[in-house]
Amino acid sequence: MRNESLNPEAVSESLSGFVPPTSPATSKHADGTLVDKYGRHVTYLRLSITDRCDFRCTYCMAEEMTFLPRAQVLTLEECLRIVQTFTALGVTKVRITGGEPLVRHNVLWLLDRIARLQGLRELVLTTNGSQLERHAGALREAGVRRLNISLDTLRPERFREITRIGDLAKVLRGIDAARAVGFGRLKLNTVMMRGRNDDEFIDLVQFAVDKGIDIAFIEEMPLGDIGHGRQGSYFGTEEAIARLETRFTLLPSTESTGGPARYWRIPGTETRVGFISPHSHNFCDSCNRVRVTAQGELYPCLGNNDAIRLLPLLRAHPSDDAPLRAAIMHTMGIKAKGHDFTEQMNAPQVVRFMSMTGG
Ligand code: 5AD
Ligand code: SF4
Repeated sequence: MRNESLNPEAVSESLSGFVPPTSPATSKHADGTLVDKYGRHVTYLRLSITDRCDFRCTYCMAEEMTFLPRAQVLTLEECLRIVQTFTALGVTKVRITGGEPLVRHNVLWLLDRIARLQGLRELVLTTNGSQLERHAGALREAGVRRLNISLDTLRPERFREITRIGDLAKVLRGIDAARAVGFGRLKLNTVMMRGRNDDEFIDLVQFAVDKGIDIAFIEEMPLGDIGHGRQGSYFGTEEAIARLETRFTLLPSTESTGGPARYWRIPGTETRVGFISPHSHNFCDSCNRVRVTAQGELYPCLGNNDAIRLLPLLRAHPSDDAPLRAAIMHTMGIKAKGHDFTEQMNAPQVVRFMSMTGG
């Protein structure tokens, strides 16, 4: 079933008729950084640069997806303007996501410009790995510091089932290419799915150990109407940890990457094993991020439908960033205290697809 969120008119009421506030002072910290009304400092922007992808992962997309018309997608120049405005407001870390960001033409131009922005400390990218073999060297040269690579299974036929299109061998070559060009701290992202890949968690961790990289397991989130229920496939963190402990010693790690993942170390290895547990461990208190979709909607919370449309502002004011800045500051006042996910996974609680918001 086609998702309503693909129709831009269907996005939350609050998007239409947004007027930037005249006095944003309440949501802007005195030192020029973004602070929301619960005192959380927003220093991290996740920007989706395309809703398109060369895979169709079953937990992410419906089989038949209608992608956005090009005119409704941010141009690369608009992407840069948005990131620039955020870095001027104190954002120091940017993650480029999709869809699959590497299917976007001239993505390297954008990455190169972003990496050079004043105030930016870390440019990172999330990818499905399909194009990495080709792009790894250029990504590193452009200034990308770290990569997160999605990998849910090590079995080719399963990989094909889960992604509907993908070729596992190509992704594995991409991972090796990224290691070869010197990317440190590569991280695999694995969505946990009961009956689909839960028998591979140990193998996936062993793979990460063998490659000297990190791995994070993600509880499936109810994002987008994927055309089938998610109820049966939910797999929680505690059970996954218990399963891994039958093979590995896991030592809880106090270190944090500033994100929602909690990490464990495996003694004698380089590998950290993370868990992102939106259901079983609410991480909203320390949330430091906002998201911008490929069509320029600024979502202050992944699990909440409130958003502000930046695209009309950008296009109405091509050479004045003040309205854009005001809109960004305004969202600090509407950032939700926490997400609304429950373990009721059947109905999509958030209407947009992950490929729209980019993880
Ligand atoms: N729940 C959890 N993770 C998801 N991803 C995509 N859709 C979902 C979902 N519904 C993951 C991808 C990728 C990351 C960006 O988000 O596998 O690793
Ligand atoms: Fe593409 Fe990632 Fe969604 Fe899979 S999860 S369809 S790789 S955007």
